[in-house]
Amino acid sequence: MSTAASSQVILSSEFILSKYGESLAGKTILITGVAGDSIAGELAVQVSSANPSTLILTARAESRVEPIVAKIKAKNPAVNIRFLKIDLLDLKDVRRAARDLDDVPKIDHLVAVAGVMMPPFAKTVDGVETQFGVNYLANFLLVKELLPKVRAAAPKSSIVICASSAMRGGIVNFDDVNYNEGKDYEPRAGYGQSNAARTMFAKFLAEKLQGENIRVFSVDPGAVASGLQRHFTPEFIDMIKALRKSGEPLRDLDGRPIALPPFTGASEGAATLITAMVDPTIEESNGAYLHHNAVADDEVTSHVLNRDHWTKLWALSEKLIGEPFNV
Ligand SMILES: NC(=O)c1ccc[n+]([C@@H]2O[C@H](COP(=O)([O-])OP(=O)(O)OC[C@H]3O[C@@H](n4cnc5c(N)ncnc54)[C@H](OP(=O)(O)O)[C@@H]3O)[C@@H](O)[C@H]2O)c1
Repeated sequence: MSTAASSQVILSSEFILSKYGESLAGKTILITGVAGDSIAGELAVQVSSANPSTLILTARAESRVEPIVAKIKAKNPAVNIRFLKIDLLDLKDVRRAARDLDDVPKIDHLVAVAGVMMPPFAKTVDGVETQFGVNYLANFLLVKELLPKVRAAAPKSSIVICASSAMRGGIVNFDDVNYNEGKDYEPRAGYGQSNAARTMFAKFLAEKLQGENIRVFSVDPGAVASGLQRHFTPEFIDMIKALRKSGEPLRDLDGRPIALPPFTGASEGAATLITAMVDPTIEESNGAYLHHNAVADDEVTSHVLNRDHWTKLWALSEKLIGEPFNV
């Protein structure tokens, strides 16, 4: 759906699948962040109706995935489901999880949805601020490890990086992603930083993969009531309520107004991820940020569009994972 995102009606997963879902038949799809109350869980249930051959569902604990497995079995028992444990707080576990897929020859769609929003300051096992580590850095490594399998599934395989409109207020602090060991940490800034990084990553990866016929997009799924709001403080909730009531827009880093997104159901949240995976009308915009099932690069800030920042982020990420990622 190539109309401008700002003027786009919010569509459901069912609608996107009715248009483009056929191309998912027989495919292997890996989704991170699957749980009974998560957008990734809804995505897994939705795409199961399109007859993929295998769904690889990842989470920290198998119990989180079980309600989704039950729904898929009831909906389409022919789909082969495989649970893959990954703790994105630990890069060693990301590497181990990728090795667990040694017997999988190709992954048609790698959809990185797992994430965390505004937790109190803490660091990953590898010493990186949690949001930057889980939302972004672990994905950088996961994509590096699984890229050969996505390449094996080309043409039209995809790497989809879930992000957020919080990208619009995000600055990657290249010299100190840990905010002075947490002393200068502000949870919203950390969430914005991780989403700016996610969006830059998709852009640079798409550029590096140019000519390989692999789709790469970052996606804002919109506002969905889910497990994500677990760290919201009463003060933050009051601040959002007051903003909604006043009708005053937030401003992005470039001073442009950002309308607070309306809450939708999970089907609408998963829909733009499906758009990223299969909508043929956006192929010319590889690397783009998507919102409301459409290319929304007009919403991306100059900080995120700055190509020097992409190279800086890539170099920093290689340093933090302790190895090069040569595409
Ligand atoms: N919901 C929204 O309004 C909204 C808006 C914009 C963007 N997003 C983005 O959408 C994505 C999905 O969010 P959601 O709304 O579905 O939130 P959610 O319900 O909290 O789901 C996030 C999933 O990520 C998993 N996760 C968190 N930390 C992990 C770790 N260390 N290792 C492995 N998995 C981990 C969670 O597993 P556990 O249960 O084990 O923690 C959970 O299954 C996020 O990346 C978020 O940034 C959401």
